[in-house]
Amino acid sequence: MNPTESTAKSTSPLEDTNQQRLPMGSCPFAISDPVQQAQVEEILKPLILTQDVIDRVRDVFEDEMKLGLAKNPPKLSSLQMENTFLPELPNGTESGEYLALDLGGTNFRVILMELKEGTIQREEVKYYKVPEEVRLGPGEQLFDFLADCIKDFLEKKHYTGEKLTLGFCFSFPMHQKALNVGILVHWTKSFNCPGVVGKDAVKMLNDAIHRRCGHAIDVVAVLNDTTGTIVKGAYVDHETAIGLILGTGSNACYLERVSRIEKWEGQHDAEEVVIDIEFGAFGDNGVLDFMKTDFDREINRNSLLVGSFTYEKYFAGKYLGEIARLILVKLVDEELLFKGKCTEKLRTVGSFTSQYVSHIEKDSMELSTEETEKILGEFGLSYTQDDLKIIKYVCAVISERAANLVSICLAHLLCRMDKPHCTIAVDGSLFEEHPRLRTLMEAKISAWAPGKQFKFLMVEDGSGKGAALIAAIATRLRAHSKAIISGEC
Ligand code: BGC
Repeated sequence: MNPTESTAKSTSPLEDTNQQRLPMGSCPFAISDPVQQAQVEEILKPLILTQDVIDRVRDVFEDEMKLGLAKNPPKLSSLQMENTFLPELPNGTESGEYLALDLGGTNFRVILMELKEGTIQREEVKYYKVPEEVRLGPGEQLFDFLADCIKDFLEKKHYTGEKLTLGFCFSFPMHQKALNVGILVHWTKSFNCPGVVGKDAVKMLNDAIHRRCGHAIDVVAVLNDTTGTIVKGAYVDHETAIGLILGTGSNACYLERVSRIEKWEGQHDAEEVVIDIEFGAFGDNGVLDFMKTDFDREINRNSLLVGSFTYEKYFAGKYLGEIARLILVKLVDEELLFKGKCTEKLRTVGSFTSQYVSHIEKDSMELSTEETEKILGEFGLSYTQDDLKIIKYVCAVISERAANLVSICLAHLLCRMDKPHCTIAVDGSLFEEHPRLRTLMEAKISAWAPGKQFKFLMVEDGSGKGAALIAAIATRLRAHSKAIISGEC
């Protein structure tokens, strides 16, 4: 399927009729009882970012980026600013057959892609569900599972070709020592397999392939989904310079001038290289504690990886619904919602998904209550008209905070790169499904990066297709005897 391009750039989101109904930068809220209204507003107030907080977050982001790129930083940055060792994006000459793996969520994919002169000719994909016992079990078992899937995929396709070249999309924070060496820094999202942190994911994959697969496979590149997304974006639009993931997790990568990467000591001849920011971990060192609410603290306490991935927990798809649920429960307990009556389901951690937030936001935009009422029905809750307004308000406030936080980072990147035009390639279910995140973000970025021309490009399957494209780029680089750049970083 073709990627879909957004309308962004110069069109003012304020011209959008839906946005006129739900004005930008504010979440209209009015219920029949002004005292109750003030009490609800008071509870949600810490989630509304003032301009002062927004400025502070931006300044801290800038400082942390600099620290993350520094050679001898005086203190540790919460931004990894990882060198991906990817010095080039697709240039239209890539040809051949490539295998790609995509691991980052509960669905693992194996992809076989054929390219001819930079154009995708054919693509075969198979999905495999990664069971919980594999996501949380020993590392070796996870990589054996991946190798078994490759074997199954190739057997089902009756693949009899020669040695295959593979790009491995491994969407976790890695310390990359070369394009095909990725040391896992820590697990995120729903994975926590002992025995992998500190090890090279490519080596573990290679070993498993030798143990279980029986096919000759050369793993030439390891990347995370943001890198796959920037590459897939560049395949469609050469002005792509940022890759953004806004799905279960969140992160971005961008093209950085090599001269500004102080910590890169090894040999390199590229002008620019893709840097994986890993902004999901922004604030893990406490630099964002000033904006943390009680709800965020609770999200962290209930999470699989307590104390890490602070920024991601403020807005990513894995958490947005849960933030809404915690607020709703608090409002019920304060007798401000559902006449103080809750259900077991609403009290259950994880029961309120981010998709519900998207659906309720859709209602707000369409001046409807249909979706919201359906959801409340599923939760067995009785409600009044005011309850519906409160729920919509909660979803609007946390969506606005999400848009603010992602936009702060993107606006800063646009200013830092200072390119005449920049396309931001985006992938991820939250960005795709939420009805107004994109419009909100366009308006905020335009305001915070004045004069910078940008547009969003929705790319489907950046991680899978991007991994295959990177395998092709790596092969091209090797063929042109441009040694894959290595060095201490
Ligand atoms: C991972 C990143 C990834 C992001 C989006 C985060 O949890 O650490 O590497 O890019 O999720 O999938």
